[in-house]
Amino acid sequence: MSTATFPADFFWGAATAAYQIEGAWNEDGKGESIWDRFAHRTGTIKGATNGDVACDSYHRIRDDVELLRRLNLNSYRFSIAWPRVQPSGRGPEEQRGLDYYRRLAEALLAANIRPLPTLYHWDLPQALEDAGGWAQRDTAERFAEYAALVTSALGDVIGDWATFNEPFIFTRFGYLDGYHAPGRKEPDAYLRATHTVNLANGLAIRAIKAARSALRVGCVYSVSPAVPASESADDATAAEAFHAYVNLWFVEPVLAGRYPAAAVNGELPLARMGYRDGDDRIMRASLDWAGINYYFHQVVRSAPPSDEALGVPFATVGRNEHPLTDFGWPVNADGLRAILVRMYRDCGNIPLEVTENGCSYLDGPDARGTILDERRIAYLREHLIAVAQARAEGADVRGYHHWTLMDNFEWAEGYTQRFGLTYVDFRSLERTVKDSGTWYADVARTGTVPV
Ligand code: FCB
Repeated sequence: MSTATFPADFFWGAATAAYQIEGAWNEDGKGESIWDRFAHRTGTIKGATNGDVACDSYHRIRDDVELLRRLNLNSYRFSIAWPRVQPSGRGPEEQRGLDYYRRLAEALLAANIRPLPTLYHWDLPQALEDAGGWAQRDTAERFAEYAALVTSALGDVIGDWATFNEPFIFTRFGYLDGYHAPGRKEPDAYLRATHTVNLANGLAIRAIKAARSALRVGCVYSVSPAVPASESADDATAAEAFHAYVNLWFVEPVLAGRYPAAAVNGELPLARMGYRDGDDRIMRASLDWAGINYYFHQVVRSAPPSDEALGVPFATVGRNEHPLTDFGWPVNADGLRAILVRMYRDCGNIPLEVTENGCSYLDGPDARGTILDERRIAYLREHLIAVAQARAEGADVRGYHHWTLMDNFEWAEGYTQRFGLTYVDFRSLERTVKDSGTWYADVARTGTVPV
């Protein structure tokens, strides 16, 4: 397929996250988050930078919405900073925080752009981490209360919501690898964290629907198609185990009230996870849609149980048979087609949206100030064609959000990666649409991907 056409009601979007763009880390009553604490610690972030200012989006609603409008987008995925609206993670709301998100949603609606907020994109209130964080079962209740608070307050202007962004990544990087906030390297805490998040998801979805039954609630997953390293039956089994553990660990609990057993070598470590009788009923809830974040595939081979926490029976192998982005991530558009088709089936045919997909290329302004990021245009073209192919194969994919609207704070990588459709000068904070942004704006306007 060399051209692809999308329906008129397809959502063309871009995605961001609060800590990566907002700045204003301690303004208007906002509480400290685990990312504030982590990034303020020496040795955690490349270049010793942090998100204190980031893109200053907290003060630039008008500029950001104007950018989205210039890109002809009709959907904006952003996240709500929990400590901005509930500073210590429990108790009454901070009205100034809620007002910011209401102003943003209203500005989007006035520009005919659908607001698509995620309730948790990794910035837990530090006070809850001090009480044990996601490793503490009670955090699930706190999250459900917060979710009900925000959706009660803003559900009159925002209809579509996501609970979590990438539970696999933030539990693992935050509690097992220690590479992200809160920087813990504790296998047992990691196992408990995954279970708390699954409990939180079920509780929150029910709490949101109890507050406002008409809202459509989804969850956003980081996924990688697993390609077996060889033709052997063992590698095929290992690839399936990878799929269960990486792609479905937070999917099956909400859809079916159970963990994907294929993920582990033998029995689930239920006791270490803090699993209690009846948790199946807490985890299960009605999920209206699923968000798919796709960056790359993984090549998987059979291996003796190695993972410190779960004893998963596989290993991933080098994957540089594909071209790499400037971040070193392989570019493989067919992986997006494959995983959309697979996840559509494994999610029981609920609607999907691509909630993130993108690439870091470091192209900056030339002498005339133009950003000629041709590699991003090629990436976008291939990946949008892959979405069209997945749709043609029957996957009900209703939207595509490019990561990201503008260059921003890339977690432990600081400001060393540039994923934006828009270039940000981090001294002046000036935003300049890249050539890829102009190209994508045409696609969004016409609903057609040119050859
Ligand atoms: C995803 C995150 C997002 C961004 C991209 C590059 O894992 O959800 O915040 O950092 O990676």
